[in-house]
Amino acid sequence: MNLKNCFWLFITMLVLGTGCGKKEQPGADFDINSSSSTSNEAEAKPSRSIDLVSKGIGPITELSLADTIDQSLALSGKHIYEQNCTICHKPDEQFIGPAPKGILDRRTPEWVMNMILNPDQMLKEDSLAQALFIEFNGSPMANQHLSENEARAILEYFRTL
Ligand code: HEC
Repeated sequence: MNLKNCFWLFITMLVLGTGCGKKEQPGADFDINSSSSTSNEAEAKPSRSIDLVSKGIGPITELSLADTIDQSLALSGKHIYEQNCTICHKPDEQFIGPAPKGILDRRTPEWVMNMILNPDQMLKEDSLAQALFIEFNGSPMANQHLSENEARAILEYFRTL
């Protein structure tokens, strides 16, 4: 009788053992899942992250945008952008710096203005600017010494992208 039990125990272990063996296959699925979570991490890059609270550090503390885009301001912003920014930024694809397309879905207007007007201090003290700096391999956002009006015009242009 004991021998019979032992036999069945042996068979059960064999079956379970095989079962476990088979379960190693779905381990491959698990790897696929974990690599897809890596692509989620890619989407969580600082340049794609959303922070609609931080206003950054700099001269702009409060800025509200009108509902409609001021097209002539945007056009002058486009020209200023083309002269000062396109060496490092393409409107809708990543280049030396991130693409500004849709930036106001990710950042406050104040943060964007402070990044344009005060990048040096932003890089020293703003955690998001620092994360961007790391993401872009240590290329700093350049201070182009624009006036507030020029930066404001570029911001309006960014709204059209
Ligand atoms: C010499 C290259 C260079 C120039 C010129 C430059 N930038 Fe940048 N910019 C960068 C880099 C690199 C980053 C990202 C890394 C960082 O912030 O240090 C960046 C980041 C930014 C950001 C933050 C982007 C985001 O997605 O959060 C804004 C806004 C920006 N730049 C606007 C401008 C504007 C406007 C101009 C022109 C007046 C300009 N930049 C000129 C290199 C440059």
